[in-house]
Amino acid sequence: MTRTTTPVLVTGGAGFIGSHLCEALIARGDYVLCVDNLMTGSLDNLSDFMRHPRFEFRRHDITEPLELKVSAIYNLACPASPVDYQRDPVHTLRTCVQGALNMLELARSCDVPILQASTSEVYGDPLQHPQVENYWGNVNPIGSRSCYDEGKRCAETLFYDYFRMHGVDTRVIRIFNTYGPRMQASDGRVVSNFIVSALKGMPLTIYGDGQQTRSFCYVDDLVRLIIACMDNKTRHETPINAGNPEEYTMLELAELVCELVGGASALTHLALPEDDPKRRKPDIEQARTVLDWKPEVSVREGLTRTRDYFRAALIPERARKESSLETREAAHA
Ligand SMILES: NC(=O)c1ccc[n+]([C@@H]2O[C@H](COP(=O)([O-])OP(=O)(O)OC[C@H]3O[C@@H](n4cnc5c(N)ncnc54)[C@H](O)[C@@H]3O)[C@@H](O)[C@H]2O)c1
Repeated sequence: MTRTTTPVLVTGGAGFIGSHLCEALIARGDYVLCVDNLMTGSLDNLSDFMRHPRFEFRRHDITEPLELKVSAIYNLACPASPVDYQRDPVHTLRTCVQGALNMLELARSCDVPILQASTSEVYGDPLQHPQVENYWGNVNPIGSRSCYDEGKRCAETLFYDYFRMHGVDTRVIRIFNTYGPRMQASDGRVVSNFIVSALKGMPLTIYGDGQQTRSFCYVDDLVRLIIACMDNKTRHETPINAGNPEEYTMLELAELVCELVGGASALTHLALPEDDPKRRKPDIEQARTVLDWKPEVSVREGLTRTRDYFRAALIPERARKESSLETREAAHA
């Protein structure tokens, strides 16, 4: 297929999911422009392709307008872990709402499709299970997670209003828990938390009784869905759930991680955070029928790859600690 040299824009491209998306788009022949303010992302995530001739990085905050010529927009910029998005809730909301407005204006002026990375958090603490796209959710508008949940809901509204008012070709996917290499080791997300703790021989932290459930999608599967959604020419009447419907309690996940890492890690229990959802599981019928998509990487396989990534990433840290210990011992000898 011939591809235009006008780049596709990936906002938040230096983050966990965004960096995998940039890599996949380059691999299929696209020119990719990544914009990111590096608030939670890192240039390290781009190191494998930073110098690729079809890749460009620009440091920019999407709450400020952008004037560019692009051929499609993937809008992923937004801190995604509760620790990160609660650090500056007003900026999170501004990113969700003003950032979405700026990117929608850019899509409108370039007359190109735009995809919004929304979230299962728009369902809040759901009263319907599994969550189907036409469920409106159960969200606290004034809690400590609301900057993210309500910000993403408002962004979805903007996407559908830009379609209705201006005919912008908008697509919205609702991403459920996604994991894989390049997650931050310490941003509080359960998969990285468990794996890193187990690798360090530290206790795994369980919030509440550990019976709350999540479903985990490996990042490569998600990236396939994101690209399929952008490439799909039919008009999507509603957002599309993106996730792996296999459901795990936190205790089951902890057990599986301990088995894959080896050794026995203890569990510590802390109180549940405010508005923590009790159950999460996507209905993915739409993704199956509209995009012909289904997850292919099993949770066991995905966790194994993620374990290997963190194991390698932790080696320099371990080596640094050991060498500083040796230096201190030598100084005391
Ligand atoms: N990882 C998940 O499980 C998950 C689940 C649901 C939704 N999502 C959505 O997917 C997207 C990517 O998530 P992620 O897990 O890769 O998170 P991440 O924090 O690793 O990546 C987000 C990226 O956006 C950048 N960013 C944040 N605010 C910005 C701004 N104002 N301007 C420019 N760049 C900005 C950050 O620096 C970072 O590189 C987010 O929109 C998130 O809401 C992720």
